[in-house]
Amino acid sequence: MIEGARILITGATGRVAFPIARELAAHGNDVIGVARFSDEAARARLESVGVTPLRFELGRDDERELPDADYVFHAGAALNIPPAEWEWQFEVNVQATGRLVRRYANTKGLVFCSTGSQYAYQGKRPLRENDPPGVHLGPYSVSKTSAEQLVQYLSREIGTPCTIIRVFSTYGPEGGSPVDRLERMLAGKEIALHPDKPNNYNPIFEDDYVALGIRALEVAAAPVVVANYAGSETVSAEDYLAYLGALAGMEPCIVYRDDAWWPLAADVTHMHEVLGRCAVPWRDGMRRTLEATHPELELLPG
Ligand SMILES: NC(=O)c1ccc[n+]([C@@H]2O[C@H](COP(=O)([O-])OP(=O)(O)OC[C@H]3O[C@@H](n4cnc5c(N)ncnc54)[C@H](OP(=O)(O)O)[C@@H]3O)[C@@H](O)[C@H]2O)c1
Repeated sequence: MIEGARILITGATGRVAFPIARELAAHGNDVIGVARFSDEAARARLESVGVTPLRFELGRDDERELPDADYVFHAGAALNIPPAEWEWQFEVNVQATGRLVRRYANTKGLVFCSTGSQYAYQGKRPLRENDPPGVHLGPYSVSKTSAEQLVQYLSREIGTPCTIIRVFSTYGPEGGSPVDRLERMLAGKEIALHPDKPNNYNPIFEDDYVALGIRALEVAAAPVVVANYAGSETVSAEDYLAYLGALAGMEPCIVYRDDAWWPLAADVTHMHEVLGRCAVPWRDGMRRTLEATHPELELLPG
């Protein structure tokens, strides 16, 4: 565990970076949490866990004005914006990432959060780091592939030690795509899955994505380390929804649609070598997530 370091975290109010920032602050690090604070309450939330908030807009503000840091965890990104705004998405996800890698050439490690959705679909086969890119989520996926190439180039040119983590489904009290599906189930709504069933995923629970995210800072190198960032176990959405349904006493309503996202399962062989293994079994993670997000429910044995 990194201790006594100064760590700058972008996207610190988000579901991936917030628990990482909290954990690093709890270990005596000076943690600076960067975001636009589009939700002002998020500022107080960071302060309450010992993280210093810093307002900064990726894509608009000047990275040279950011404070020095021993490590940088770069999770801030333009997500869920209309395809017509792709130029802004590239400005934030690609160009601002490049400027951060240049700004922090002298850090011990910079982690760039890419995505498992930058892979082309390989059917049932789990996705491994040397698989080709594809377009899972439109311009967003393309922006992440582009940013990866820029990080690779700059790290080689100027020596910034970097780790690119390809984030698959994170989940836990902060949310995540399994939680989005859980919420639909609890609301009695249909859950659309891809016809290529079962829809295999490698969801990674909060305890594990915090531990492996911090490890990613420690192993950063030039040239760049690239690793999937996913749960060690593969589980289908059908199976985890059935389990959550059994705990909550309801039946998930799954529909198979051609326009549903293709499932994302990760090959975790390389991840285990460079970042380590996950510790939380998927059933424990799902149960803890349901308990944290819906304390009002009385859970059945499952
Ligand atoms: N969660 C997943 O399962 C998953 C899967 C694949 C990839 N990822 C990647 O992991 C990273 C974190 O994702 P997340 O799920 O934690 O996202 P999130 O919950 O939506 O958080 C995004 C963060 O970025 C900040 N942000 C957005 N635009 C910004 C801008 N222009 N300047 C500064 N800050 C900005 C947001 O705060 P403000 O709005 O206040 O600025 C927030 O702190 C992203 O790079 C994402 O692409 C996540």
